[in-house]
Amino acid sequence: MNLLSGFSFELPTRIEYGVGAVQKLAEELDALGASKVLLVTDKGIEASGLLAGITAPLAGGPQVEVFSEVEPNPKDYNVVEGTRAAKRLQADCLVAVGGGSPIDCAKAIAVLATHGGDLRGYDEGAKITGEVLPLIAIPTTAGTGSEVTFSSVITDTRQKFKFSIHHTKIAARIALLDPQMTVTLPPALTAATGMDALTHAIEGFTAAGSEPLADAVALYAIELISKYLKTAVFDGCNMEARAGMLLASVLAGISFSHSDVAAVHCIAEALGGKYDTAHGVCNAVVLPAVMEYNLEYCTAKYARIAAAMGLACESDSDGARSAVAAVKKMASDVNLPDFGSLGVKAEDLEALAENSFRNGSNGSNPRPMTRDDYLRVLKGMMSLDT
Ligand SMILES: [Fe+2]
Repeated sequence: MNLLSGFSFELPTRIEYGVGAVQKLAEELDALGASKVLLVTDKGIEASGLLAGITAPLAGGPQVEVFSEVEPNPKDYNVVEGTRAAKRLQADCLVAVGGGSPIDCAKAIAVLATHGGDLRGYDEGAKITGEVLPLIAIPTTAGTGSEVTFSSVITDTRQKFKFSIHHTKIAARIALLDPQMTVTLPPALTAATGMDALTHAIEGFTAAGSEPLADAVALYAIELISKYLKTAVFDGCNMEARAGMLLASVLAGISFSHSDVAAVHCIAEALGGKYDTAHGVCNAVVLPAVMEYNLEYCTAKYARIAAAMGLACESDSDGARSAVAAVKKMASDVNLPDFGSLGVKAEDLEALAENSFRNGSNGSNPRPMTRDDYLRVLKGMMSLDT
């Protein structure tokens, strides 16, 4: 970082963090003047019973309707159906409860319900001109960071391609971060979403456009994830570990929304668009391979990542290599599968490389990456000749 170069930093989301934070929902809705609320979630959250604790205290307050049709890797048609529900209700506020999928879907509903038109037209936020429906985000996973980011990642189901709507206006007004909301998350999802948070922090810290405030929160996120991920996975009721991971997730979200993600997410989103595979798992298996690719371009930064992970190193290059090895070990320690488990077909590699290259975050990778570079990395992960 050149300390003489300028930067700007904006965080439109107010964060309310702590055990019991979700109990503030009624007063926050009241403060927003909400009278008709669409609660955006998914079937898993609906079946878990978590919603009762959120909606019961709202009795006698605003009218609340639940839209629970959001799928993993939220689809364009989920947004269209959610927008219909919002319009039918004449919703004046959205509450998203869940992981990144419901929160990203709610952000896109907030845009479409107020601006109309074709969803894909909002790719990169070009047509967002006015205010969108206010959103309160209540994350139930520790990984996405979507509760504080300015982007919404949606799958174009015709093209099997994930695209982003990116604009500060779509950020949640308020994020209610309550570690208790993550306690019921099963080990495999805790592991996958935790590795998503780690990827956000590492890519946010090393992205071409990173800046000092984003760097600072990224390093603290990496420290917290190193300390708490395993405990959160294997002892899910450990509230300190759950709180540490939730805090890490939001810090990593702040980091990458102010710098960017990079090639790991470009590949993970190409894989998710093509095969509908879990985002966190894709990141976990791709992260070490991309770190290897980037190694010589961010040796000093990787050494700082190693230090944040508590690793003692004799030199930057020693630290950088240790960071890559530690990330790989962390994924395997929490039983995340390897690349082979994703079912990637050799005949799809060209298209996956093309979609990775087309991703809006490709230019943020610290080492420039062509289609052929993506192809080489993908083949390397499949142990094919490069
Ligand atoms: Fe992510």
